[in-house]
Amino acid sequence: MIAFAKKYKSFKIVLLLVGTGALSAQAQDAVKFPLIPYPTQLVAGSGSFVITGKTSIVTAKEFTSEAAELNNLLLKALGKPLVVAKINKPHAINLVYDATITAPEAYKLNITAQQVTIAAKDPAGVFHAVETIRQLLPVSVERGVVNETLVLPAASIEDQPAYAWRGMHLDVSRHFFSIAYLKKFIDRMALYKMNKLHLHITDDQGWRIEIKKYPKLTEEGAWRTFNNQDSACMKRAKDNPDFVIDKEHIVQRNGKTMYGGFYTQQEMKGVVAYAAARHIDIIPEIDMPGHMMAAINSYPFLTCNGENSWGKLFTKPICPGLETTYEFAQNVYSEIMDIFPSKYIHIGGDEVDRTDWGKSDACKALMEREGIKDLPALQSYFINRMEKFFNSKGRKLIGWDEIIEGGISPTAIIMYWRAWVPDAPVKAVKNGNTVIMTPGEPLYFDNQPDQYSISKVYHFNPIPKVLNAEEAKSIIGAQANIWTEMIPSEKRADYMYMPRLTALAEMLWTTQQDKYDSYLKRLVQQYSRMDAMNINYRLPDLPGLLNNYVFIDEGKLSIDRPLPGLTIRYTTDGSLPGAKSPELPSPLSIKKAELVRVAAFTANGARGDVYNLNYTQQQMLGPVKVAPPKPGLACSYYKAFFKQIAPMKDAKVDSTFTTNTIAVPATVKAPSFGITYKGYIDVPADGIYNFYLTCDDGGVLQIGPGVTVDNDGNHSAQEKSGQVALKMGLHPFLLNFIEGGGGYTLKLQYSLNGSARQDIPAEWFKN
Ligand code: ACM
Repeated sequence: MIAFAKKYKSFKIVLLLVGTGALSAQAQDAVKFPLIPYPTQLVAGSGSFVITGKTSIVTAKEFTSEAAELNNLLLKALGKPLVVAKINKPHAINLVYDATITAPEAYKLNITAQQVTIAAKDPAGVFHAVETIRQLLPVSVERGVVNETLVLPAASIEDQPAYAWRGMHLDVSRHFFSIAYLKKFIDRMALYKMNKLHLHITDDQGWRIEIKKYPKLTEEGAWRTFNNQDSACMKRAKDNPDFVIDKEHIVQRNGKTMYGGFYTQQEMKGVVAYAAARHIDIIPEIDMPGHMMAAINSYPFLTCNGENSWGKLFTKPICPGLETTYEFAQNVYSEIMDIFPSKYIHIGGDEVDRTDWGKSDACKALMEREGIKDLPALQSYFINRMEKFFNSKGRKLIGWDEIIEGGISPTAIIMYWRAWVPDAPVKAVKNGNTVIMTPGEPLYFDNQPDQYSISKVYHFNPIPKVLNAEEAKSIIGAQANIWTEMIPSEKRADYMYMPRLTALAEMLWTTQQDKYDSYLKRLVQQYSRMDAMNINYRLPDLPGLLNNYVFIDEGKLSIDRPLPGLTIRYTTDGSLPGAKSPELPSPLSIKKAELVRVAAFTANGARGDVYNLNYTQQQMLGPVKVAPPKPGLACSYYKAFFKQIAPMKDAKVDSTFTTNTIAVPATVKAPSFGITYKGYIDVPADGIYNFYLTCDDGGVLQIGPGVTVDNDGNHSAQEKSGQVALKMGLHPFLLNFIEGGGGYTLKLQYSLNGSARQDIPAEWFKN
């Protein structure tokens, strides 16, 4: 044991040389073209093009609007606009119409020491080239710092997107966002070549757009007293100031404190024009027939029985049996279509509690008359009728994937979100529908980001595996959704989608998915641009941390900084690290069992995520002596639903098997089950072993007498990690895993004394 402790300590000393104060490998590697998304083709040239006040912009007549955008960008840095001309000039940025570049949104960008040429057929392509130039310019252009000259590195770029739909969604109902914030949001989307903004404008918690025919929608429906979501945010604000509700949306009305706001039609037309100049379509969603409480409060004739309340899960929907419902819906959408010129209009159609429809005489009569067989089909009748109305105005209808349940016309566009119904997009494609992928995992950006979320977004494949190449063409792209029940401020919104948006942008722009390491390096350089743009992005994770640590005589904690300029601070008294907490020394020595809480802080005091590191003192565990064991682990399979692993011990064993692999067995067919993996782990050397357990749903790993990793409960795939100090030889091994339905993920890896993590060799498992 003593010998081991020495070995371990000397190892840590080596580590310290790259420890606290050092930058992580990613943060050290500067990249010459830190572009996100990375272009389809980029060949670096030699030298650079220097933009000065004397440089001209020479534009084809088709691209005058994009030339103006380029000039606006350069104006911020140069302090004065460049001359825009129609004829050739020396030392110019040329915007050239090229009919041979036929792919939508495609462009070529050639930068030499003499001139810059952007060639495209599609104005959107020229705009994307301008954003490429923006990312190659110093970040000072974002601050509006006036420079004498701007330097662009020479390169030849050919570029076009992989997917036509590269979307972001924002819910402005649950919490409201100002016109100024919408413009910021659009500008950030444009920077990363996203092209669809889906605005979820109305919901139970607030109606956010002026409708002239129904003024009470905003006079009353845009305002509320604080609700339970506001209270939940206020609670979280005690630990995290990003949860403080933006004050500009809190008003005093008739002696009451109210939350809310809405966009006038005029204001929204301005946002639409701002987005259009950046080649972004805004797709409005007026969610119906469910999620309509804010409207029904003021116009109770919309429900079947005039009531307005919550059902078991959702609010009462508007009534498809009443002609007055269609009159209202069409009047509202007519005004919406006057504001939003988008080819696509989103009708929502999700989460409808249809119970009242079954009791309504009007619905029964309609079903009888039209031969509608059940309530899902009644919803389809409503959606199909609205689709005909949309089509009559030259628009296409989009709906959430529930709209296919009662049968749907193949011309509707399906937005897939229910990750637990994996065949929904496949069914829709086979029905002839066009599909946009927004599955909750990993594309709901209101889900708390963690150390894996960027990788999950980056590696998401919008095309379901079972589709053939022809069918795959029906998937036109993907989108991330931001539901704002728990996002009450611009700062919290920034944190939730930045930097995940950059991973989404690259995933949707390029089909080359082998650039992840390069993407991470480019992302490090993007952070300084985000700083200049005042984006409250989520700081990169502190690298290599575990949940549970053990030490023998002394633990030593060293953490590399993921970005320059960050300071890592800590506490050991259970309190949250703050800007005044001590800086993590190099290293922090740990001599008693304690909870160390660490977080990174930016120079202006913003805090990154807080990490809770549990330290326990442990003696090296000696191996057990047993009769020569057999290969593999002895497993028991329980065909039942478990919320936690504890009830497994009282459950009936359905079958048993032996395995030397920790993974969900391919033979398991039940949607919900539990598996116990029991036996020994035969470790080849003394050491402190790290174990990483990833599961969906829960799992608890015990090596020796105690719990090594606790990842219990029903949850999506997440990793938890822990340590145990083991002497060479056999140690009791017990892993309990539960699957609640959907997900089916189980993975266990290890590392020894800080080595790279790896799969556990099959021959280590015995029983
Ligand atoms: C949804 O998340 N209800 C579309």
